[in-house]
Amino acid sequence: MSDLTLPTSAKAVSFSAYGEPDELRLTEEAVPRPGPGQVLLRVTAAAVNPLDWKIRRGFMQGVFPVNFPHVLGLEAAGTVVATGPGVDSWQIGDEVFGSAVAAYAEYALAEAATLAARPADLPVATAAALPVAAETSVRGLGLLNLKPGETLLIHGAAGSVGTLAVQFAVADGVRVIGTAGERDQEALRSLGATPVRYGDGVIDRVREAAAGEPVTAVLHTSGAGVLADSVALVGGPERVITIADPQEAGPLGVAFTSGGSADTATEGLARALALHAAGTLSAPVRATFPLADAPAAHRLGEQGGGRGKIVLLP
Ligand SMILES: NC(=O)c1ccc[n+]([C@@H]2O[C@H](COP(=O)([O-])OP(=O)(O)OC[C@H]3O[C@@H](n4cnc5c(N)ncnc54)[C@H](OP(=O)(O)O)[C@@H]3O)[C@@H](O)[C@H]2O)c1
Repeated sequence: MSDLTLPTSAKAVSFSAYGEPDELRLTEEAVPRPGPGQVLLRVTAAAVNPLDWKIRRGFMQGVFPVNFPHVLGLEAAGTVVATGPGVDSWQIGDEVFGSAVAAYAEYALAEAATLAARPADLPVATAAALPVAAETSVRGLGLLNLKPGETLLIHGAAGSVGTLAVQFAVADGVRVIGTAGERDQEALRSLGATPVRYGDGVIDRVREAAAGEPVTAVLHTSGAGVLADSVALVGGPERVITIADPQEAGPLGVAFTSGGSADTATEGLARALALHAAGTLSAPVRATFPLADAPAAHRLGEQGGGRGKIVLLP
């Protein structure tokens, strides 16, 4: 499709004030044109992340300041409809998925280098739900520099990030103990982790599950008030990483990581695709919504109570 055949505006979900899910409105926004190294996607699926509702509520103003109207959305699956200068890795019509910008929309930009081809047997909703979780997992596990045979504790192991982190670590020969709610214990076991219930006394249950083997690293994706005991468990803060709690991490000397690189993004997608090709990938999608129902999607996400990513289908 040449630029001349692209629409100048199209539907997107934007918000113009911080607040409740109903601030998300279906609006008409200009369709961006791809710059150097970028492609324009006709978005077929865009996943919702916890960061999205934190931004919408205004909790992230210090870290992610936004201009209004703001279109959320960090990841998508879609069809390439235009390529920017210097892009020869993708052709118009290619089915791809990866990180994207302002993906709650019919059209969104993405960096060509961080996309992957979507296999025909990988549903668009599943594909859209992978990039953030896969990138974050690769980054978090990489910082822990794990060796086969080590025992890793993952807090929040049944969440979207946790689910992929468990699978990547297990594939690397790492023994994983994962915390999850009662509902997700069996799901975690089926991924190859030893499940432990989160909540009061969690570190005692982790010690019991470790059965005498030392726990040598911790990836924290969820759960308040567990970092100090996690540091004590592994004997220091050096091999404890959080993606979720910079406030608790700081005074303990625990590293908080955020923001990926093109390398971790592409490695994340490659690892997820390898599991898909082997027929073992687990990346649950909890619910899908049409773009116009983004407020309902955010309400469901904030309310919790289910496993898997929520995905918008523009
Ligand atoms: N820094 C980064 O680069 C980065 C990147 C991606 C995500 N994140 C952040 O990481 C967090 C997780 O993201 P996600 O997409 O995986 O979220 P998610 O899919 O909503 O998963 C969160 C998981 O945490 C579980 N959980 C709730 N309370 C817990 C507790 N006390 N102990 C252990 N687990 C508990 C939830 O279980 P229930 O269903 O039982 O409540 C759920 O399985 C979010 O805060 C997100 O913003 C950060």
